[in-house]
Amino acid sequence: MSVAASSTGCYQIPAMSLPPFDHDAHTKYTEPPNASWTLGQKIENTESGRKWLEGEEQGWQIINTAEDTPQLYPLMTSAIVPRPVAFVSSVSETGVENLAPFSYFNTVTRNPPIVSFSCRNAPRVKDTATNAKNGLGFTVNIISEPFVENANVTAIDAPPDFDEWIISGLTKTPSIHVKAPRVKESAFSMECDLFQAIDIAHPVSGEITATLILAHVKYIHVRKDVLNERGVVDITQYKPIARLGDISYGRVGDVFRLPRPVWEQEREKIEQASENSQLS
Ligand SMILES: Cc1cc2nc3c(=O)[nH]c(=O)nc-3n(C[C@H](O)[C@H](O)[C@H](O)COP(=O)(O)O)c2cc1C
Repeated sequence: MSVAASSTGCYQIPAMSLPPFDHDAHTKYTEPPNASWTLGQKIENTESGRKWLEGEEQGWQIINTAEDTPQLYPLMTSAIVPRPVAFVSSVSETGVENLAPFSYFNTVTRNPPIVSFSCRNAPRVKDTATNAKNGLGFTVNIISEPFVENANVTAIDAPPDFDEWIISGLTKTPSIHVKAPRVKESAFSMECDLFQAIDIAHPVSGEITATLILAHVKYIHVRKDVLNERGVVDITQYKPIARLGDISYGRVGDVFRLPRPVWEQEREKIEQASENSQLS
C-alpha cells in the first residue's frame, strides 16, 4: 500500500492503492455475533471467541501515562473508537463565523439534554473553544458520508479570522435560537447554549491543556427522511461517519440488536444457573 501524498481535488489527501468507496454498500441488520449465547457463557465456547483469545499469546504492553510518550495520543485515539464527530458551527464576538469537527464528543445526559466535546489547547487554543464561551451559542451538526470531505477540510489550521465555511462548500442555514448557522447538509443539527466550560488543568504541571464544553441542546433539526415511524433515526438512511485512529474515518456497516437484560425476566435462570455454579 503506497502512502505517498498526491494532490486530489483541492487539497492533499494520501494516495493509497485502495478500492474506490463503495457507494452501493448499505447498512444492513444481521444477527448478533453469538445469537445463541447464554448467561455466563465463556467466550472459549465459540470458534470466534477462541480465535480472539489466541491474540493474548503475544502478551500485554503497559503504558504509564505519566511518562507522556509520543505514543499516547495516537494510541488512545486509535483505541477509543469509533467516535462520533461534532461538527461545530460557532461565531466570534466580532461576528467571524467558524466551522470545525471535534471527535471527543458524546451525549452526557438527556434531561436536560447535554452533549459534550473537548478542544485541545495545543498547538493553540481552538477558535471553537473561545467562541463557545462567548454566550452567543453554537450548533453541533452530525456529518454523513456524502459530505465528509467538506467537513474534514474545515479542520484546517487557519488563522482565527478565517471563515472555514468558504472552503467547505457547505450551506449556512439560519438557526432559530443561536447566532451561529447550522449546516444545511446535515440531517441532524442541534442548537446549543453553553452549559459549562471546564478548563482541564494538568494535575502535575497545572497547565490548561484542553477545554471541555458541556452544551445544552435547545433545538434539534432532523431531516424527516432519516426518521422512522417511531420517530428515531433510521441508521440505514443516516450514513453517519465515525472517527477512527490517525486520519481514518469509518462508516456503519452491519448492525445487530441485543436486548437489554431485564432482571425480572432473567432472575429465575440466573438463580438456577448460580445454584448449579454455571455462572462463575
Ligand atoms: C475528524 C476530526 C476530529 C477532530 N477532533 C478534535 C477534537 O476532538 N478536539 C480537538 O481539539 N481537535 C479536533 N480536531 C482538530 C480540529 O478540528 C482543528 O484543530 C480545527 O482547526 C479547530 O478549528 P478552530 O480553531 O476553528 O476551532 C479534529 C479534526 C478532525 C478532522
